[in-house]
Amino acid sequence: MLRIPDDSRFLKACRSEPTDVTPVWFMRQAGRYMPEYRALRQKHSLLELCHRPELAAQVTLQPVERLGVDAAILFADILLPFEPLGLGLSFAAGEGPQITRPIREARQVLELPPVDAATDLAHVIEAVRLAVRALPPHVPLIGFAGAPFTLASYAIEGGATRTFALTKRFMYAEPRAWHELMRRLAELVGAYLAAQARAGARALQLFDSWVGCLSPGDYAEYVFPHSQRALELARAGGVPVIHFGTGTATLLRDFVRAGGDVIGVDWRIPLDVAREWIGPGRAIQGNLDPVALLAPRPELERQVRDVLARAAGRPGHIFNLGHGVLPETPVDAVKAVVEWVHGG
Ligand code: CP3
Repeated sequence: MLRIPDDSRFLKACRSEPTDVTPVWFMRQAGRYMPEYRALRQKHSLLELCHRPELAAQVTLQPVERLGVDAAILFADILLPFEPLGLGLSFAAGEGPQITRPIREARQVLELPPVDAATDLAHVIEAVRLAVRALPPHVPLIGFAGAPFTLASYAIEGGATRTFALTKRFMYAEPRAWHELMRRLAELVGAYLAAQARAGARALQLFDSWVGCLSPGDYAEYVFPHSQRALELARAGGVPVIHFGTGTATLLRDFVRAGGDVIGVDWRIPLDVAREWIGPGRAIQGNLDPVALLAPRPELERQVRDVLARAAGRPGHIFNLGHGVLPETPVDAVKAVVEWVHGG
């Protein structure tokens, strides 16, 4: 396979190599805060954008052209594997995801159909190919998937939750079925990530967005081995893997042990403290509070410079938010952050 030399700023930072300036991209950099995204959404539903590779590739490129970021993230959603799993997925306007047939009983886990990521999610793999072809060569594409825990929480809750009560109840009441569900999700997302790398993604991110709702003990017992397995399978793709979670400060030791060339952290832990706890040999990604983008410009600049100061110019820092861009974010604020991070 022909490989473009991996000497972009972003990939160098993933490998903890020195770069000219700090690379920057944003989780949810393609989305409702962008007028060009909203224009496309007038004509197509979110799932339609995800099902049509040429549209998904087009949305992937929007923030690259508009913001000057150092990496693109594929336009897709972590919940797309629920379609071949037969759970039923829809997005209601303003209400987030809805799962029609949530997993509430142990027997449902055994009834889940086998999923072959490369064929059952072929539309996503094709979007990777098209986006890679359309991107400038110095802007690598990041493929992604949801981590087993975050996916299991949506599969069980059936939508968003504050308490994760159904998820934890299932975990405690049906530990065998829980581990079987997590095992299946780990195999699925691991193979899915590796397939995205084979299609041309030059880095992969595993999103464990909600793992911070767990105690460290529950993380170790119910989640760790499955995240570790998913990350191990993803490594077969031969590209750097980013392991991201929010609220992970108290779990960080095991979260890091589970794997990842890069660890993504949120703003609830200062970047220099996280850097210390992560230890040598791995890069760090983060960790501006997305709400800082709504602050008056001097406060935003102060917070951006604080993150950079804590990173202290050491190799292996990728600037990002601690979670996704919020829909009410002004595009100009995001552009200003890119300029400050790039040395403006
Ligand atoms: O630019 C990018 O980051 C790529 C696209 C992307 C989407 N979802 C598209 C999307 C990515 C990386 C995701 C990941 C995702 N999806 C996560 C992990 C990251 C995180 O934010 O924690 C999660 C938990 C989901 C599940 C999901 N999808 C939720 C909870 C929602 C509704 C809430 C919201 O932000 O609207 C979605 C919908 C969704 N996925 C939108 C987009 C652009 C917005 C809906 C729309 O356009 O109508």
